[in-house]
Amino acid sequence: MSPDLVTLEMDPAVIRELGHRIIDLITEEFAGPARRPPFPPAQTTERMESLFGGPVPIDGADPGQILDFLENHLLPAAGNPNHPRQMAYVLTASTPLPAMLEALVAAIKLRPTTWKNQPGSCRIETTVTRWLGSMTGFSDEAAGYVTSGGSTANLFALAVARVRRAGWDVRKEGLYGHPRLTVYASSQTHSCFTRSVEMLGLGSESLRLIPVDSHQRIRLDLLVRAIRHDIDDGCRPFCVVGNAGTVDTGSIDPLDALADIARRHDLWFHVDGAYGALAAIVPEARHLFRGIERADSLTVDPHKWLNVPFEAGCILVGDRADLSDTFGLVPAYLRGAMGAEQNQYECGFELSRTDRALKVWVALRQYGLGHYTAMIRGHLELARHLARLVEEAPDFELMGEPVLSICCFRYAPPGVDVDLNRLNEDLEMRLMEDGRALISGTVLEGRQVLRACIASHMVTKAGVEETLGLLRQLGRSLLAAAASA
Ligand SMILES: Cc1ncc(COP(=O)(O)O)c(C=O)c1O
Repeated sequence: MSPDLVTLEMDPAVIRELGHRIIDLITEEFAGPARRPPFPPAQTTERMESLFGGPVPIDGADPGQILDFLENHLLPAAGNPNHPRQMAYVLTASTPLPAMLEALVAAIKLRPTTWKNQPGSCRIETTVTRWLGSMTGFSDEAAGYVTSGGSTANLFALAVARVRRAGWDVRKEGLYGHPRLTVYASSQTHSCFTRSVEMLGLGSESLRLIPVDSHQRIRLDLLVRAIRHDIDDGCRPFCVVGNAGTVDTGSIDPLDALADIARRHDLWFHVDGAYGALAAIVPEARHLFRGIERADSLTVDPHKWLNVPFEAGCILVGDRADLSDTFGLVPAYLRGAMGAEQNQYECGFELSRTDRALKVWVALRQYGLGHYTAMIRGHLELARHLARLVEEAPDFELMGEPVLSICCFRYAPPGVDVDLNRLNEDLEMRLMEDGRALISGTVLEGRQVLRACIASHMVTKAGVEETLGLLRQLGRSLLAAAASA
């Protein structure tokens, strides 16, 4: 006797009703992006545990009530990247059609794994990587792989670089008994590189963080000196990383000169363009990225400046074999599903992977390059506008002209005798608590600064101006509180 099989089916009428409710929620988010604050009100661990913790539920619950619960408790406890005054980190807004399609992708588990099973998704991914390659000026024939984000793309890039430039079969022999592999990047490079070299077993000390000049660009003289020193020491330099838009200031390393150095020393040349490389679609900004076309690999993060939902990072290479020689391995149980050279899973580490490229493909189809170019150009101009406002204000200090769309400054009213680092750190926190706008902070040359990154399509000129006014207001109240304490 066969057992009764239990399914997870739902009544189509209920599915439709729940779907409509979700679409209504999504529509409200986009129609009223300022309804929820950019940073959520402070919550306690106990409250979150009481709402979302507890033991595994034994009995099920009504899906409509689950939705009610999430609407009432999860959304109010979530930050709002769609807010018009949200300029923190490199956090951008989402877009409606790509967002809604995520549900469809999930429902049919679209995945660019094997060609025979999902030829459309595989082709969409290779199209997207080709498009991103040509948009950034990297290559019109780029191959690539859509990752969860820039961190993973950079990790993959170092894995590829190691296979291509170690000088021995790293996949087979590993690192034991071989010279120490070293990689070079500026001190402004994103922290994911440190975590990547740790994960790759190279050790964080193998990442040589080279000091920067006064424009936050890698010092080429110190880079060359470090490479030579390591060679003399018996190390094996294998990769140099260039930044096409650092996370702190948006600075761009001299990519052409880095390409020369990489070639001279037989190093893999990787460019991290997670935040900045997409600005290359603006013709007036293209010259900033000269040399990007000479990179061996490039990281681009569509979930940043293309404003598509998470997750969409991307590693681009000139030759698909760079990826498949690093990650490819065909297990026996997948042989029947082979479509040989077009399987995207051979280009990365993950096997089961959602179709992340679709939202990028859809966004580019819907808005087109022209629209995105105008949007990014507007962001570059707005960052410069903010810089002018800061420069003209007696109580703010500009920390350098924006290269792309990040403007760093600090609150520094004349004649006040306070620790400016402390004041600006407190101001960043006060803004978070206030909830009317959000920018983040960082430390530049030992100075605590405020940092606005304008890369969200929801950000407005009025929003930027209001945020500066709000910072002034909050800054004054901090000073007044300190004076009366
Ligand atoms: C320059 C740069 N590289 C890498 C990353 C990491 O990207 P992700 O957050 O998508 O992992 C960021 C994130 O802001 C970045 O700005």
